[in-house]
Amino acid sequence: MYEIFKFLHVVGVVVLVGNVTITAFWKVFADLSRQPTVIAYATRGVIVADWLFTLLGIVLLLVGGFGAAYVGALPVFGLGWLVVGEVLFVLSGLIWIGILVPLQIRQDRAVRSLQPGDSIPKAYWRDARLWLIWGIVATLPLVAATYVMIAKI
Ligand code: HEM
Repeated sequence: MYEIFKFLHVVGVVVLVGNVTITAFWKVFADLSRQPTVIAYATRGVIVADWLFTLLGIVLLLVGGFGAAYVGALPVFGLGWLVVGEVLFVLSGLIWIGILVPLQIRQDRAVRSLQPGDSIPKAYWRDARLWLIWGIVATLPLVAATYVMIAKI
């Protein structure tokens, strides 16, 4: 049972970290096209991918992580590497909910009704830059948590 929960946990990590990195790549790739309809489509895709993969990854990560800890009788607030993993996860989640999701919604609203040839509002480019910077900032705790969980420090 322990291995099954741990498996679900690691699949969750792969889905979550994979989604946040590759979604950012496609969004930036679309922005570079400078075509409003391409950008609008990709910006919408970011939101859909969040609903599908970020949420799925979070659920699997939590169910698998806490499930494994329960089955393996690991103290979730007593082991250094577990506590650090939990704190890093919460930190990343707060940046996602507090900064990234509002930025995604604002970007979507700014471009969704644009037609080919329309100019892209300046506010969109400002939000796109902020979104990329904060997206990288939010990914770092997840990468750090991966190392902490493997090295158990
Ligand atoms: C949110 C709270 C978390 C809990 C309760 C939790 C719990 C656990 C548990 C119980 C294990 C099994 C340890 C073992 O048998 O080796 C584990 C392994 C692992 N966790 Fe977490 N974890 C959490 C967050 C994270 C996060 C945020 C990441 C990375 C984004 C992560 C990545 C990993 C990895 C890669 C392993 C496999 C380590 C190995 O086999 O050496 N965990 N975690």
